[in-house]
Amino acid sequence: MGINRIEGLVFGVDNIEKCTGFLDQWGLEKQEASEKGAIFTTLENQTIIIKDINDASLPKAVEEGPTVREVVWGVDSKDSLDKIGAEMSKDRDVTEDSSGGLHCYDEIGIANGFVVEDVVEVEEEAPVLNFNRFVPRLNETIEKTQEHRTRPYRIGHVVYNFPEEHREKAVSFYTDRLGFRVTDAVTNMGDFMQCEGSTYHHNWFLSHRGNRVMFNHVAFEVKDLEQIILGGKYMRERDWDTSRNPGRHNLGSNLHWYFKNPCGGEIEYFSDMDRMDENWETRYWDEPPAINFWKAEIVL
Ligand SMILES: [Fe+2]
Repeated sequence: MGINRIEGLVFGVDNIEKCTGFLDQWGLEKQEASEKGAIFTTLENQTIIIKDINDASLPKAVEEGPTVREVVWGVDSKDSLDKIGAEMSKDRDVTEDSSGGLHCYDEIGIANGFVVEDVVEVEEEAPVLNFNRFVPRLNETIEKTQEHRTRPYRIGHVVYNFPEEHREKAVSFYTDRLGFRVTDAVTNMGDFMQCEGSTYHHNWFLSHRGNRVMFNHVAFEVKDLEQIILGGKYMRERDWDTSRNPGRHNLGSNLHWYFKNPCGGEIEYFSDMDRMDENWETRYWDEPPAINFWKAEIVL
């Protein structure tokens, strides 16, 4: 179906000013802001829109309060967009906006948008690390490569919770109808999925640990652990609350630091996620593997 990435998120929020300040300090690029809402972008030009929670243009919410109102997927071509529209129209209402974007709801009530992706390629240098006999920074000091302000370059993944009884239909909608692949499936937890054109361990994680449908978090990729720490420190200095300490996950292996997001749910800086393609074979677990990666005991 040609889905390559998350193209953006639309939030409905109850405090535009606070949320605008938060996303600005998170390191996103502020494109527009007023008392009615704001538009931010990542460096790769994914869009985070915030609107008033009562804005009539917003799709239906899955829950009360501030939350994501639409997950927008970027597809590789107009041809793929037409195919998605034809597939979705088989059994649900699909609306088309004035720009040609398509909109519908999934099996558990999450609003999905589909647009042709608009990617800005980011010229990032790989992290440079001196270690033992590997000395890529010989005769150069760290200032040359070190950035002091975290600027997330990509939305990597989005996570929702929902009741377990809906697991099969919730997940098969994405795998069977939209071409997603499950990388890790955990019986007592959920299904990690990547969209067709992505090599990330997950762009989309549906966790059936929940008694209702709820937005869990959105994750923004930064270069390395140092960028995670710098970004998190910047947020802590401005009194935003940590929700999960820095550490490394087991499934996906990403380094992370989570904050409470006034726009809804949590928000994550991450780096160094496992990457796999269509040759990866789905792993099935009864429960998450007991891999003991590190987690900070003290919030910095
Ligand atoms: Fe995450």
